[in-house]
Amino acid sequence: MTKPIITVIGSINMDLVVSALRRPKAGETILGNDFQTSPGGKGANQAVAAARLGAEVHMIGCIGNDEFGSELKTFLERETIFLNGVEPVTGISSGVALITIAEADNSIIVVPGTNKLVTPEYVRKYEEQIATSDIVLTQLEIPIESVEEIARLCYKHQTPLILNPAPAMELNENLIKLASYITPNEIELAYLEKTEIELSNYPEKLIVTQGKDGVIYHDGDGICKVPSFIVPTVDTTGAGDTFNGAFAYAISKNKNVKAACNFANAAAALSVQKMGAQGGMPTKDEVNKFLRAQGIANAEIRD
Ligand code: RIB
Repeated sequence: MTKPIITVIGSINMDLVVSALRRPKAGETILGNDFQTSPGGKGANQAVAAARLGAEVHMIGCIGNDEFGSELKTFLERETIFLNGVEPVTGISSGVALITIAEADNSIIVVPGTNKLVTPEYVRKYEEQIATSDIVLTQLEIPIESVEEIARLCYKHQTPLILNPAPAMELNENLIKLASYITPNEIELAYLEKTEIELSNYPEKLIVTQGKDGVIYHDGDGICKVPSFIVPTVDTTGAGDTFNGAFAYAISKNKNVKAACNFANAAAALSVQKMGAQGGMPTKDEVNKFLRAQGIANAEIRD
């Protein structure tokens, strides 16, 4: 069995997670229920999701020469992710995300730290890795000029690029054109629509995740909807990242968009049943078993 090579270029964060009954108002102090640290960052999360499913994953990113940095590296090593492209730097802290879980949802503030050092020059050092990958996956927690450079290099080497445009921001249309797939959620889509980017203009390319309302995309004839699975939810942090890692894996295994969305929805449904962005990310066998139980065996991925 040859494993698809997926290169993820993006953020690596330590998540500082507080759960509380509700969010405090401005100027208010409240008592929380629980605190924990866990590995995160949209880039690292997507890398872990694809690796657990069976891809050969190469991560490109930056961590600090600090305690969080070395813990984050150890977590990624345990997932057997190749880390030649993860460089520790001195003088700036590792990225952190302050996450509040309250009222059945999360809110997140990211302080990028070393993720800002994933510059276009940094990305260019790994051009050969981009050229020899089956798929490249990136997000918007590194500088936008770097994302544009990734898109240019992917296009130059004809390596498919999945762009997860999170967190939300407006994007220039050239970037949209160079990517093979773009995977906004509804909030991120609203930003893209400000620059007149619409589903019907990008058939089978703009894949919109809507949480419990499933995924929509245009197939050239009309809007297609791939429903999500209703499951008991413990923590939705990282569900979108699980979707993206699994979608990348399914596309690299030559699944069509509909089957890839079903596979990725199943992976995301399994991930929300445990705490932590990476805590519930499933293996391929777990996703296949879940799909079979749901009667969608044609979305299973065999070796
Ligand atoms: O998508 C969830 C992730 O967003 C968290 O792990 C946090 O680090 C932020 O990057």
